[in-house]
Amino acid sequence: MENDNTVSTETRFLHAIQLGVGAMPWGDRMVWQYGRSHSDRDVHEAFLASLGEGITFIDTAEVYGGGSSERMVGRFAEEAGQPVLIASKFFPMPWRLSAKTVAAALRSSLTRLRREYVDLYQIHWPSPLLSVEKMMEGLRMGVEAGLTRTVGVSNFDQQLMLRSYSALARYNIPLASNQVHYSLLNRAVEKNGLLRRCAELGIRLIAYSPLELGLLTGKYGPDNPPPGNRAVRYLPILPKIPPLLKLMTEIGQDHGGKFNAQVALNWLIRKGTLPIPGAKNADQALQNAGALGWWLTDDEMEKLDAASDEILGYRRMVAAQA
Ligand SMILES: NC(=O)c1ccc[n+]([C@@H]2O[C@H](COP(=O)([O-])OP(=O)(O)OC[C@H]3O[C@@H](n4cnc5c(N)ncnc54)[C@H](OP(=O)(O)O)[C@@H]3O)[C@@H](O)[C@H]2O)c1
Repeated sequence: MENDNTVSTETRFLHAIQLGVGAMPWGDRMVWQYGRSHSDRDVHEAFLASLGEGITFIDTAEVYGGGSSERMVGRFAEEAGQPVLIASKFFPMPWRLSAKTVAAALRSSLTRLRREYVDLYQIHWPSPLLSVEKMMEGLRMGVEAGLTRTVGVSNFDQQLMLRSYSALARYNIPLASNQVHYSLLNRAVEKNGLLRRCAELGIRLIAYSPLELGLLTGKYGPDNPPPGNRAVRYLPILPKIPPLLKLMTEIGQDHGGKFNAQVALNWLIRKGTLPIPGAKNADQALQNAGALGWWLTDDEMEKLDAASDEILGYRRMVAAQA
């Protein structure tokens, strides 16, 4: 799918990673109920379990848990005493109006992370106040100061991504990645061409919320909604997902009893992306790591695409247009 010739030497390591871990639930109380549904010990065990399975790419951000996630990742990585690849993110707060604020935020992240550089530094969201060009200039400062190996964006549509790519190209810096929402229950990037464009340009598409916040694990459904504001967010889609979950379970069984979460992640890897599932404890981390070491067949991919299209309405849209 990806054209290997378009991948730059600096970002090649990112294309070799098949699966990562999202560290947003590590310290985040508001969305993920850290301290209630899981503890420091749980997330430390999730970290160690991931490392034990060879998953060494951890995605965090300065805003996760108000810096707690970065502090935990830094502490865990230091104690682990083995190589860990860390990605973090700059949030364009409204008072951050210059390129310099990007490099300054990166330095603060590095202090929390207890390291001299990160492997990937991403712009978390586009901003109406800080132009793409200024943000890219800030990323350049980070690269030139040796504070990050590579740079990326997140939640950038195709137009903004191309602007970032061009702005960085003027400094001879490759745009390493675009981190966006992508799962069997959110296929916008496939339908709007972003996934294809990333492959063409050698930009790694990092898939966030790959389990659709737990929905694709099969543990939630119309009679058993997820807790907190996830229930409100997913109320309209919950009654539609049982056929997809059933198909995922059947396919998993054909592969020796793979879990739904593993099918969901394998599907994303087969689409050429790098999923970063959040894990609150060792059990979840271990299960997610089991997405590796086997492959969905083309026929299974097609069936999963069709079942997801049905829920998301793409099939009906195509039929209506015909
Ligand atoms: N760039 C951005 O704007 C952005 C936005 C969102 C997320 N992200 C990144 O993407 C990462 C992942 O996304 P996400 O956390 O939104 O959603 P996700 O990975 O789709 O779902 C994670 C949640 O699913 C449940 N879960 C995970 N593995 C499981 C398993 N094997 N079995 C059962 N339940 C399991 C856990 O919650 P419960 O146990 O409570 O169900 C976990 O917190 C984040 O940690 C973050 O690094 C980035």
